[in-house]
Amino acid sequence: MAIQPLRDTKAGVLRTPDIGRTVRIAGWVARRRDHGGVIFIDVRDASGIVQVVLNPEDAPASEEVLHGLRSEYCIAVEGTVEARPAGTVNPDLPTGEVDLVASSLTVLSAADPLPFQITDRVDVDEAKRLEYRYLDLRRDKMANNLKARSRTVQAMRRVLDADEFLEVETPTLIASTPEGARDMLVPSRMRQGHFYALPQSPQLFKQMLMVAGIERYYQIARCYRDEDLRADRQLEFTQLDLEGSFWGQEDVLETLESVVCEVVKDVRGIELSRPFARLTYAESMERYGTDKPDTRFAMEIADLSAVFAGTGFKAFAGVLAGGGTIRGINAGALGLARSGLDAQVDRAIDLGAKGLVWMVVQEDGSLRSPVAKFLSDDEIVGIKRTLDAAVNDVLFIVADAPKVVGKVLGSLRLDHGQPAGHEDLNFLFVVDFPVFEETDEGGLVAAHHPFTSPHSVAEMRDNPGDALSNAYDMVLNGVELGSGSVRIHDPVVQQQVFEVLGISEEEADLRFGWFVRALRFGTPPHAGFAIGVDRFVSILQNEPNIREVIPFPKTQTGGDPLTGSPAIVDDTQLGELGLLIAPAVRAAWADESDL
Ligand code: AMO
Ligand code: AMP
Repeated sequence: MAIQPLRDTKAGVLRTPDIGRTVRIAGWVARRRDHGGVIFIDVRDASGIVQVVLNPEDAPASEEVLHGLRSEYCIAVEGTVEARPAGTVNPDLPTGEVDLVASSLTVLSAADPLPFQITDRVDVDEAKRLEYRYLDLRRDKMANNLKARSRTVQAMRRVLDADEFLEVETPTLIASTPEGARDMLVPSRMRQGHFYALPQSPQLFKQMLMVAGIERYYQIARCYRDEDLRADRQLEFTQLDLEGSFWGQEDVLETLESVVCEVVKDVRGIELSRPFARLTYAESMERYGTDKPDTRFAMEIADLSAVFAGTGFKAFAGVLAGGGTIRGINAGALGLARSGLDAQVDRAIDLGAKGLVWMVVQEDGSLRSPVAKFLSDDEIVGIKRTLDAAVNDVLFIVADAPKVVGKVLGSLRLDHGQPAGHEDLNFLFVVDFPVFEETDEGGLVAAHHPFTSPHSVAEMRDNPGDALSNAYDMVLNGVELGSGSVRIHDPVVQQQVFEVLGISEEEADLRFGWFVRALRFGTPPHAGFAIGVDRFVSILQNEPNIREVIPFPKTQTGGDPLTGSPAIVDDTQLGELGLLIAPAVRAAWADESDL
C-alpha cells in the first residue's frame, strides 16, 4: 500500500472549483471557535488560511483533539471541500467561498501557551518578538516580508545572470577592508594573537576579481560593521555587490536601473520610468541640504542672500559680512500657533543653527514674524518672490555657513514635507561626490573609500578639499540605498590617494601592499556598486526598520534575545585562542547574571 503523504494540498489554494474534492492539509491552528458542538478551525500554512469545519459526529476525534486544540497546534486534516452556506462567505479571505469539512483530524505537535498572539493586529514588545522570533515569523506580515526579500534577491539574480555576470563568493575571514566602520574581529587559534576581520564589504576582493579577468561579478554578500545600530543599520547586513571591467559610471548606473526596475516590478507590480534623475552632489546639497534628498516633494532650499544684501537686521548682516549665506524654505500652510512656530526655533538650534527666523504670510500680503520690524518693503517682496509664498505659508530662514544652513533647512524640510511611509518610490542618483570629506578634527577621510578614482589627480593633490571623484550614490525616498564608484586602476594614483589621506607609506604597505601590487599586473579600468538589500526590502515593504525584513536581527544593543549572543565563552576556548579576559571585564560579568 502506498504511504499516504501528510498532506496533498496547500490550505491557502482551495477555491470554488475544488468543491467536492477530498483533500489532506496540514498546518497550524490560527483560530478556533466552538459553535454548539461544531468547531470551526482556521488552519494556516505557508500558502494561507482555510476554514475547517469539525462536526464531532462526522469526524470521530479524541477528547484531547476536540477540547484541547489550542492556538498554534500543528495539525493534519482530511476532509471534503464544500461550498460555504449562503451568507457565510468571507470576501476578505482568498479561500472564503469554501470550507474544508473534516472527516479526520490529527494533532502532529502540541503548542505551549503563546507569549503573544500570532496576528498582525497586536502590538508586541520587540524584545519579546525577537526572543520568540520563530513565532513572530508566523505572522502574515513577517512571512510576507521574507517572501518579498526572497523575490527581491531572485529578481536581482535574474537581471544580472541574463547580463552574463558571474556570481562569485568572496571570503569572510579576511584582513581588514576599510569602509569607515570598526571591524568585527575573529581570533585565530592556529596563529594565536592574530585576528581575522569580517568583511565590511567585499570591496578589495571584487577588485581582485577584476584583476583576475572575471569582467562581470556580483554577489549577495553578507557584510559586517561594528557601528552603532540605528533603524537602517545592523551589525551584519546584506549587499547586492557588483563590479564590471571596462566599465564607466554610466554603465553601472544603467545596470542598476535594470536591476531596480525588475525588483520593483516583481515586488510592487509597478513599472518605473527610466532613466532615473541624476543630480550632482553640489546641486543636491544646495537644493536639499543633504546628499540623499527625498524628492517626492519640492520645498527646495532657496538662496536669499541677495534679498538681504543691505538688511538692517543685524544678525543677518553679520553673517553676510562674515562670508555666510542666508537661505530659506517655504514649508507651506502649516497652520502652527505661535508656540508651534517657536518650537521650530528650538529644533533649528538643536540642529546647530544660531537661530531661526519664521515668517507667516498674512491675508494683506505682509509678513508676521519676530523680525518683521527689521524688514524693508523690498525685502518682503524679494522673500515672497524667491520662496514663491502664498497667504498662510510658513517660511523658515537661516543665516550661517552654507554647511550649517543646509543641515538645518534640510532637516526642517523633511520634518514638514516628508510623506509618511513609502507609497511612492522615488529613485535618483547623486553623482560627483567630493573625493575627501573633512573630519570634525579638520583631517581628511575618503568620502567613499580610498579606492575611488578622482576626476583629476592633479586637483586631488593640489586642492584636496574641493576635488571631485567618480563616486555616486543611489537614493530612494531620502534613504541612501547604495554607493559605488569608478575605481583607481593605476597603482601610482592609488599610492597618491593613500598619501593625501595621510596613510603613511609603511602603513599603506602593511595594509594594502598586496592590493597595490595586484594593480601592477595589467588591471583593467573597472567600476562597481553595492545596494543595501535590507534597506531596499524594508522600503519596498513600507517598514520603518530593517529589522522587520531580517529574519533574525540583532537588537539596538547588538544582542540576539533568541540565542543569547554575544555570549561569554569558557576558559578552555579562550586558552586555545591564547586570549585572556581583562580582570575588570571578568568582574563585570558577575553583574551580568541577568543576561
Ligand atoms: P557602502 O559602505 O556605501 O559601500 O555600503 C553600501 C550600502 O550598504 C548598506 N549598508 C548597510 N545596511 C545595513 N546596515 C549597515 N550597517 C549598513 N552599512 C551599509 C547601505 C549602503 O548604501 N564597497 C562599497 C560599495 C562599492 O563601492 O562598490 C560599500 O560597501 O544601503
Ligand atoms: P536675536 O537678534 O539674536 O534676538 O534674534 C532675533 C531672531 O532672529 C530670533 O528669532 C532668532 O532665532 C533669529 N536669528 C538669530 N540669528 C539667526 C541666524 N543666524 N539665522 C536665522 N535666524 C537667526
